[in-house]
Amino acid sequence: MRKKIVAGNWKMNLNLQEGVALATELKEALAAEKPNCDVIICTPFIHLATVAGVVEGTVIGLGAENCADKEKGAYTGEVSAAQVKSTGAQYVILGHSERRSYYGETVEILKEKVDLALANGLKVIFCIGEVLEEREANKQNEVVAAQLESLYHLTEEQLANVILAYEPVWAIGTGKTATAEQAQEIHAFIRGIIAGNFSEKAAEEISILYGGSCKPSNAKEIFSKPDVDGGLIGGAALKCADFKGIIDAWN
Ligand code: PGA
Repeated sequence: MRKKIVAGNWKMNLNLQEGVALATELKEALAAEKPNCDVIICTPFIHLATVAGVVEGTVIGLGAENCADKEKGAYTGEVSAAQVKSTGAQYVILGHSERRSYYGETVEILKEKVDLALANGLKVIFCIGEVLEEREANKQNEVVAAQLESLYHLTEEQLANVILAYEPVWAIGTGKTATAEQAQEIHAFIRGIIAGNFSEKAAEEISILYGGSCKPSNAKEIFSKPDVDGGLIGGAALKCADFKGIIDAWN
């Protein structure tokens, strides 16, 4: 049985105190009512060490939103995978479309990041997804296949520490979600690519999350599809009630 997951991506929101307050509220909500899925929050780097203390010993996993493509050294302002790991975080989001488009992260750069994250014992939430023009030209399948090239060199054992997140860029923060059918169609395609490049077993075991304007009102329908194993949540992860509402879609 593959894992069902709801992961939050706080992006560049919340100061440290606000982040600690949100993590604390979520911790209390989930202690009162045990979730029926894995729950992860991915926070800005500055929150990690403190939030790690808040969520320690709870069901909540913790991740960063990025890490450097270099191991260590003179890279002012960067944060390495080893540094992320040392905060107590267990996960890192890599390849988010905002990183790809605003910070020029390529398939090659992401390959380096994936390798460093895995080598340092982090699990990777690897994001893929097409922009609107690519969807309109019906090119989404080739786009995600090309983005997945950052992973093809991994062993199956390494791939077991990767979670995929399909996030159509036209749905991120826009209020416009893919339909459950659109999500299912491309998730099944992605699973097929994993089967072809790794094995049927690897494809069966990898969790593929949907991301893009996921909210309590649409999560249940999207998660009901056989190849959708949960969600990567941006805006709705910033309010405990909304995030909990999405977690409850698995009940
Ligand atoms: P959104 O963001 O839920 O605000 O659309 C999702 C994401 O970018 O991970």
